[in-house]
Amino acid sequence: MKSIINSPTPAVIAEAASLLTNGEIVAIPTETVYGLAANALNPAAIEKIFVAKGRPRDNPLIVHASDLEMVRGLGLEIHELAARLAERFWAGALTMVLRRVADIIPSEISCGLNTVAVRVPAHPVALELIKACGFPLAAPSANISGSPSPTKAAHVFADMNGKIPLIIDGGDCSCGVESTVIMFDENKIKILRPGAVTAEMLSEFGEVVVEGYHVGADDSVRPLSPGTKYKHYSPRAEVIAVEGDVAGLGEFVIANPETQTLFAKLREFDELGAKQVFIRLPEPCGIGLALYNRIIRAAEFNVLKVENEKF
Ligand code: TXA
Ligand code: MG
Repeated sequence: MKSIINSPTPAVIAEAASLLTNGEIVAIPTETVYGLAANALNPAAIEKIFVAKGRPRDNPLIVHASDLEMVRGLGLEIHELAARLAERFWAGALTMVLRRVADIIPSEISCGLNTVAVRVPAHPVALELIKACGFPLAAPSANISGSPSPTKAAHVFADMNGKIPLIIDGGDCSCGVESTVIMFDENKIKILRPGAVTAEMLSEFGEVVVEGYHVGADDSVRPLSPGTKYKHYSPRAEVIAVEGDVAGLGEFVIANPETQTLFAKLREFDELGAKQVFIRLPEPCGIGLALYNRIIRAAEFNVLKVENEKF
C-alpha cells in the first residue's frame, strides 16, 4: 500500500473520518507536530498505532478532543485547576494528564495507567476532523519511534509510507515541537515534557515544577511520563549538544535552534549524509526549555563544552 498525501478538502476530511470510523489510522496535521490518529475508543485501532510506529508498549498515547465538552464525556477528573488551564490554553499546545473516574477510554491508550493524557489541538483541520468523527482521536507524533517528530507531510511520508492509507497535508506545523505535558500534584503543576506553553505561562496558575526532563540513563527511577525514558528525536547522524560557540565545529551545525525548524533540519541533514550534527544549547527558560529538552535527548545527553565563547 502506497500512502496517499492529500490536501484537507471537505471530501478528504470525510474520507479520513470514514477510515477512522472503520478502525484505520490516518496521519493528521496539528499545530505542534503531525499526529498518527486512531479512534481513541477502539482498542484494535489503537493497536495499529503501536505497530506502525514501533512504539514501546509502556508509552501511553494522548487523546485529542474537539473541545472541553468532549473531554468532559471521557470519564476523567476535571478539577478546578484543570478547568481553568483548559479555559486559558485550549485549543492549544497543552496536554493534561487526568485521573480516570469512569471506564470510557480503553486501558490500551494509557498502557494500564490510572490516568489519561488529553489535549484540544489548535489546528483547524484536526478540529474539523474530530468533529466529523464525533469521537476523540488518539494521536502520537507520526514518526517512527525514536526519530525526530514530523513537522511536514513529507516527513510523515518518509516514516510511514506503506503503513497507513492516508496523510492529510495541512502544511508546515506552526509550533514545531510537541505539546507541553503536565500532571497535577495537589495544587502543583508538574511539567513532564516542556513545550510551547511554558513554565512561565503556567506559573500564573500555581507552583510549577519541571519534572525529570533530563532523566536519562537511570532505569531505577520510573519516570512519571513513560516517554521520557526513551532515546528520542534522534536522526541517523550523531547529535552533539554544545554549550558555547558552535562556529568551526563541523559542516552540519545549528547555531540558533528554533522550534519550527529544529526537527526539519535534523531530517534535512540526514538527507545530506551528515555523520555528526552540532547544536548549540539555548538557555533552558521560556520556549528555550522545550528546545533544550529535545536537543539534549537527541544527543543522548552527550554535551560538548566549548570554552572560547565569544560575546
Ligand atoms: O503535540 C503533541 O502532543 C503531539 C501531537 C500529535 O498532538 N503528540 C505527541 O504524542 O507528542 P506522543 O505520543 O509522541 O507523546 C506523548 C507523551 C509521551 O511522552 C507520553 O509518555 C506522555 O505524553 N503521556 C501520555 N499519556 C500519559 C499519561 N497518562 N501519564 C504520563 N505521561 C503520558
Ligand atoms: Mg512522539
